[in-house]
Amino acid sequence: MPLSKIAGIGMYTPPNIVTNNDLMQYMDTSDEWIQERTGIQERRYAHRTEETTTTMAVEASKIAIERAGTTADEIDFIVFATLSPDYYFPGCGVLLQRAMKMKEIGALDIRNQCSGFLYAISVADQFIKTGMYKNILVVGSEKHSFGLDFSTRGRNISVIFGDGAGAVVLQPTEKENQGILSTHLHSDGESAELLAMYNPGTHANYWAAKNYADFSDEAIGDMFMSHQMIEKAQLYPYMDGQSVFKKAVVKFPEVIMEALHKNNLLPSDINMLIPHQANLRISQFVQQKLGLSNDQVYNNIQQYGNTTAASVPIALCEAWEKGKVKEGDLVCLAAFGSGFTWASALIKW
Ligand code: UT7
Repeated sequence: MPLSKIAGIGMYTPPNIVTNNDLMQYMDTSDEWIQERTGIQERRYAHRTEETTTTMAVEASKIAIERAGTTADEIDFIVFATLSPDYYFPGCGVLLQRAMKMKEIGALDIRNQCSGFLYAISVADQFIKTGMYKNILVVGSEKHSFGLDFSTRGRNISVIFGDGAGAVVLQPTEKENQGILSTHLHSDGESAELLAMYNPGTHANYWAAKNYADFSDEAIGDMFMSHQMIEKAQLYPYMDGQSVFKKAVVKFPEVIMEALHKNNLLPSDINMLIPHQANLRISQFVQQKLGLSNDQVYNNIQQYGNTTAASVPIALCEAWEKGKVKEGDLVCLAAFGSGFTWASALIKW
């Protein structure tokens, strides 16, 4: 069975840089608080009307496709991960297919938030291994800036997120000892409401009424969308940051170790760990727990914030462009987030 390799990688981040000081115009926050708690110095925001999650994905995909030595016409499947799609439905996969004038290929949308790109890579990897497809475009893209609460009420979330896109082309590899060695996917829906955007949705308070989560005051109404939701700011994401943080610092090392064990490897064998850029403090904790050096971990949340499904491919692309990921290197990708869902992948580059 052939393994799949990342044959090409690309990224796109909007030119509009938004600093921590810029955010102080809208909310009660400070550069000091944001940097100390998250490591973030600045993030990019997409143009409000001229850029969408899909248009950013197109830019990243063009680069990935060219670097893979192929053309949009040769792509035979799309896997698109995002939590900020252009439309509630249809998903961004078909919009990307249309925008890039691809053939009438399959397009799959993945809704796994921060671990979306890892899930997407894993799905694509299976299609390559079975021989069903030969050129799969895997994308993570987010336009968070369009859906955040920029008042002080939303500051714990709004300062974290940024916009951008990353894409890879997966192909079967002919080389020995190269490619995706394994992927590992997990979920635990027990804490689904701790990091979520409840509305618009079809829940009509079903979960709150069942007392499965303490969010009855936060998610009111029996309509898909209502004035009340707008007035009570329920069309914005909700996050219990501390609970997410506590779980993340356990699950990141766990799922990385799972991947290493599966392949009889040790943390010291990793040449480059690309963690989902959730919070620099989380990455530093994971690095310390696994005993990794600064050279073994790549972080760029300082410049881009947390770009959810796009963060892993953006960080991987930047690391590769800087020559920090080279042929033969053992690269580990890992993510944790809303769901909760978490995942890892080990790649021999
Ligand atoms: O990628 C998706 C997965 N997400 C994550 O992994 C996020 C994990 N969690 C985190 O990164 C952190 O929990 C945050 C960075 C979101 C928040 O940091 P924290 O240290 O957990 O802060 P907190 O929410 O406990 O808030 C501490 C204080 C509060 O004030 P009081 O009640 O102590 O007076 C907040 O109101 O900080 C306040 N605060 C802020 N102050 C200035 C919250 N956000 C801000 C802000 N600027 N932006």
